[in-house]
Amino acid sequence: MTVRLCALDQLSDPGAIELSWGAGDWPLSLFVVRRGEAVHGFLNRCPHAGHELNMKPDEFLTRDGELIMCRSHGARFRIEDGLCVLGPCPGASLRAFAVELVDGFVVVAQAELERLSAAAGH
Ligand code: FES
Repeated sequence: MTVRLCALDQLSDPGAIELSWGAGDWPLSLFVVRRGEAVHGFLNRCPHAGHELNMKPDEFLTRDGELIMCRSHGARFRIEDGLCVLGPCPGASLRAFAVELVDGFVVVAQAELERLSAAAGH
């Protein structure tokens, strides 16, 4: 079973969007990043100190759209795999998850969301 996260058209190019999954007071915070026709999904949790990366809605990329940036202490991550290349946690990675494009929508396997949720301690 798959879950639709958003329409590809909702994402600028390059661009990112924040999403949540699950019910209750603490749904899982996720984001997806688009660059061209490629879309990548990540758990919204920085490996440096565990904060959410953004301070404003959908604010995940550097100004030039080349890297993901954590607004807490400035860590920068590659879009293609979430590896930290600059800042306080070099070599650490964002927790990525597999997404697909189906009929113009970004989708993810429900089992992948459940794995992510368990890894995040939800
Ligand atoms: S929590 Fe992200 S850089 Fe510190």
